[in-house]
Amino acid sequence: MATKLPTTDIRIGPELIRRRKGGIPLVCLTAYTYPVARLLDPHVDLLLVGDSVAMVLHGHETTLGASLDMMIAHGQAVMRGSARACVVVDMPAGSYEVSAALAVASARRIVDETGCQAVKLEGGVDIAGQIAAIVAAGIPVMGHIGLLPQSVEKDGGYKIKGRTDETVAALMADARAVEKAGAFSVVIEGTIEAVAADITRRIAIPTIGIGASGDCDGQILVIDDMVGLTVDRVPKFVKEYADLRRVIAHAAERYAAEVRERTFPGPNHVFSGSKASSDSNDGDEP
Ligand code: KIV
Repeated sequence: MATKLPTTDIRIGPELIRRRKGGIPLVCLTAYTYPVARLLDPHVDLLLVGDSVAMVLHGHETTLGASLDMMIAHGQAVMRGSARACVVVDMPAGSYEVSAALAVASARRIVDETGCQAVKLEGGVDIAGQIAAIVAAGIPVMGHIGLLPQSVEKDGGYKIKGRTDETVAALMADARAVEKAGAFSVVIEGTIEAVAADITRRIAIPTIGIGASGDCDGQILVIDDMVGLTVDRVPKFVKEYADLRRVIAHAAERYAAEVRERTFPGPNHVFSGSKASSDSNDGDEP
């Protein structure tokens, strides 16, 4: 059954995001589900259906557990719950690296099956050809440079980038490659602050920081980290704006106690009407 969309003004597109370079900072968060998209949509410019969903919602150890089908299912849920924000869906590892043709086919599937505004892929110089091909096929692309979670096994862990002259030069080359390939914006993750700020000054597309710099053109966080719902390790760069771990544990504790002492369900949570001639639900919706 189709779900009713929230009312809206007009949806923010990638071109509008691109034009915000150097302006009011872009507010971005990840979202993976319909209800969370509904709650976030009025407050953000961009919702990213990140492949972090594999870790955050599915309990995988790394984002390498994400599949194209998984990203599409969550992309559809977020699109059903959002009407205003620019929705970007991550291309999972294995869906774009080997060739431009595979990258275009995977990006096309994501856009056709979710209706999202853009896709995101990780890498710089090494995947510039894939970005250019996807853009040439008419699909807007967001880049992602710096610490690349899909390369965690290759890199031997989550390592901050930009500590040496060599990695600073590599980061700058990646940023320029992504920009030249036609991306409308680029996420910079896990880099030395001054390096992210310098990249932001030197390229013409908006940079979206995560563990990067307050000078970036926007910021993004993983939603579960931001609301204090992450049960495993929380990265240093996260600020928790709520403590949903405590809220949920407290609610579960109260519910368990009330079920055990038979105070739930109470009179307001049961149907105590008199006998009727049929079992129809008329006027007695659950
Ligand atoms: O998958 C993800 O959540 C991301 C953000 C961390 C930028 O790529």
